[in-house]
Amino acid sequence: KDKKVDAIKKIAKLISDNPDSKVIFLVGAGISTSCGIPDFRSPGTGLYDNLAKLNLPFAEAVFDIEYFEQNPKPFYTLAKELYPGNYKPSKFHQLMKVFQDKGRLHRVFTQNIDTLERAAGIHSDLLVEAHGSFALNHCISCKKEYPQNVFKDKMLAGEEFANCEECEGLIKPQIVFFGENLPRKFFLTWDKDVTELDDKSIVVVAGTSLAVYPFASLPEEVPKATTRALINLEKVGDFKTNPRKCDIFYSGSADGAATELAKELGWLSELDSLSKL
Ligand code: OAD
Repeated sequence: KDKKVDAIKKIAKLISDNPDSKVIFLVGAGISTSCGIPDFRSPGTGLYDNLAKLNLPFAEAVFDIEYFEQNPKPFYTLAKELYPGNYKPSKFHQLMKVFQDKGRLHRVFTQNIDTLERAAGIHSDLLVEAHGSFALNHCISCKKEYPQNVFKDKMLAGEEFANCEECEGLIKPQIVFFGENLPRKFFLTWDKDVTELDDKSIVVVAGTSLAVYPFASLPEEVPKATTRALINLEKVGDFKTNPRKCDIFYSGSADGAATELAKELGWLSELDSLSKL
């Protein structure tokens, strides 16, 4: 417990002592588990442990582009369950919105496809959806684009497949599958942001196992002068393999950290008022 308090105090001090600096968040599925969305790799509860009914050759095949081209059914089955819209942002999402409202948000890089950052009100120019989202959809054969509701309606109507009306190809949301490139915005924005980091900046990594590249390499690329904080149930990635002296680790839930950090920064009423919306 003392370690958690200590971690929050260190993060808050850096933020309060440097009012002109802005924070970068690098986030993953662990910031949305409290919303009722399972993460991917937590043993037992994670999505990849619960795909037995889809009869996949390996769990990650459900998001593999080559596998999808051969057998799209598992993804379509899952898409119906995962479809965003029925979930509300967590305290952690709301804390990032408070950072934005205070003019202290530099950027959110998210691996999540649940669009809860948008739902929380994070501006699109401050947000990089590194693994895409369900917002755009296109036919993987003829590239015809489809509005979000076309794909959504097909899934929610229980259709087994989503086929293109022009060429019968497969309609796929613009989620980045294994075997596909991340959006250009991800690389361009990170390359720019990383040059702006200095000894007053802080990069907060939260709710991710840092298992999927290239996203997982971002913490390594943070300049040595810049403080890195990890808010996660477990120590992961570069925080584990190449720990730095000034790294901060909060071992616990993202929402717990959000509340404690807001308290320490004197932003609790702002955070609470977002929960009431
Ligand atoms: P993972 O499931 O791999 O990791 C989630 C991390 O969050 C784990 O380290 C958990 O311990 C931690 N965690 C879970 N609940 C938490 C909580 N309430 N508070 C704090 N930490 C918590 O998810 P990601 O790292 O996001 O790709 O996965 C990366 C990518 O792998 C995903 O974007 C997805 C997947 O394949 C695509 O969809 C393309």
